Formats: sequence, C-alpha cells, structure tokens
Amino acid sequence: MLVSGKEVLQHAHKNGYAVGAFNVNNMEIVQAIVQAAEETNSPVILQASQGGLKYAGVEYIAKMAQIAAYNTKVPVVIHLDHGTDFVQIMQCIRHGFTSVMIDGSKHPLDENIRLTNKIIELAHAVGVSVEAELGKIGGTEDDITVADRDATFTDVEEADRFVRETGVDSLAIAIGTAHGLYKGEPKLDFDRLKALKERLNIPLVLHGSSGVPEESIKKAVSLGVNKINIDTDIRMAFSNAVKEVVRNKPNEYDPRKLLDPAREAMKNIIIEKMIMFGSAGRA
Ligand code: G3H
Ligand code: 13P
Ligand code: ZN
Ligand code: NA
Repeated sequence: MLVSGKEVLQHAHKNGYAVGAFNVNNMEIVQAIVQAAEETNSPVILQASQGGLKYAGVEYIAKMAQIAAYNTKVPVVIHLDHGTDFVQIMQCIRHGFTSVMIDGSKHPLDENIRLTNKIIELAHAVGVSVEAELGKIGGTEDDITVADRDATFTDVEEADRFVRETGVDSLAIAIGTAHGLYKGEPKLDFDRLKALKERLNIPLVLHGSSGVPEESIKKAVSLGVNKINIDTDIRMAFSNAVKEVVRNKPNEYDPRKLLDPAREAMKNIIIEKMIMFGSAGRA
C-alpha cells in the first residue's frame, strides 16, 4: 500500500524504531526490497537518488515503485533522495512520489531554511512529506578529523531554529556517517544525537548507513533515529552475487540467471537490516 513519508516516520518516531530507506535503480532492486518488507512484515521506503533518476528515468522509477506498492499490504513510501533541484522535485511529486528530500545542506542556514520552506509549501499542499538536511554528511573519500567534527556535524542550536522556522517532517543529521564505504570504523557522536532528539522531537534520518556496525545502528535507533538510508550494502550484495555466478558459470549468458541470485542476495541483506532497525513486525 502506498503511503506518505509522514505517516510511516511519525509511527516510527512515536514507537522508537527506524524504517529502512533503500535506494532503487532497477526492477530487481525494487522487488528485493518489497519482498524483504513482506517477509518481515515491515514498512519500507523506496528512494531514488540523483544517479538512480539519471539511470532509469523518473517515469520508470515511479511506475516500478508504484506497482510494488499497490501490490503489497505493507506500507511503502516512494521518496526522492537528496533532491536539490526545484523542477526535479516537482516532477517527482507529479509522478506520484509520496515524500521528497530537499538537501540544502551546502547552503548557509538562512538559504537552507528559505529553500526548504519553498518546497514544504508546495509538497504539503498535496500531502507529500519533506525531509531536509543540516550539517555535512561525509563523502566516500572524506577523512574527518576531530577538529572537523564541530564544524561539519549538525549544530543543535541551528537545528532547533531550522525546525522551528520550517516545520519540516524529518531531518537528516550529520553525526559521523559518510556515504559509501568506510576506510575504518565510523565513530558516531551519540551525545549530539541524543541532544538533537531531545531538542527537536521529530523523526531523524541517518544517511550513509551502509558499513555502520550493528551496535552503532541499534544505539542510534534507541536514541531517536527513525529513517536509515542504505545504498552501498545493496550494491555490494548485488555485484558480489553477479560476480559469483560469472566465476562459477563463465559461459552463462541469460540475464535472468545472472540477476536472480543477485535479487535473492539483496533481499537477504535487506531482511537483516529490517530486523536490526526494528521495523520488522511493524507493518
Ligand atoms: O545518496 C547517495 C546514494 O547513495 C548514491 O547516489 O545513485 O547518485 O550514485 P547515486
Ligand atoms: P550508503 O551508500 O553509505 O548506504 O548511504 C546511502 C545514503 O545515505 C543515500 O542517501
Ligand atoms: Zn544520503
Ligand atoms: Na556508508
């Protein structure tokens, strides 16, 4: 069943668990995610990144996700990940997305607030929820030093002002995670997370969550993270499974024989995440 982001994240916020938001780029990924949600009886967020929209096109992403959502009893949100462009955000809403992210984190606070409010006014008018971002979430190659942390992590006072002046539905925070693979083990600033949750009292979003150890994820959920973005772990499951088929059967040329094990491998890792995040059994 297709639902808004607000509905799913408010339930998670009030009941102390997190919903997985998994990046979708093709049919097999959509199917793996929704099958995992059905098997664990879990609400789920299908999200499209800039790269995903470029690769598959907004129509294909929207239609695949809608077919999956309409054919299942579990709640499914269709979400735009890291939206930055006004026109693209409007196109996603027009194509039936039920949630959008406006990532104004690279702008100064006032500009981020202005940009977020512009999207909220339009999105809320048609029942679409909005995620914003404050602070700088690391990139794959970023080495964040201790001195960097205060400069780049989400500031509690700024976040308080941001939420009061926008009324945003959920907020992506920078507390030490990074997109892509980690070189070492990420160290999350749990004190900051706790302070942010106490002050803001809204659903918080953790980006870059692939590669974060299970205990850290569970602690983050216990302290108030309600949406957990996973992309890289799915990519790894997909590509490792395809490579294994190619290694074992070098003459295989049927795409279905290459992709079916990948779909299964993605589903299995997603099931693990849903159990870890506490969304299993919440549909
Ligand atoms: O937010 C970033 C996603 O993990 C990947 O983005 O599909 O644009 O490479 P991409
Ligand atoms: P990972 O690729 O590290 O899982 O990050 C995904 C993400 O945050 C998408 O917005
Ligand atoms: Zn992200
Ligand atoms: Na990561």
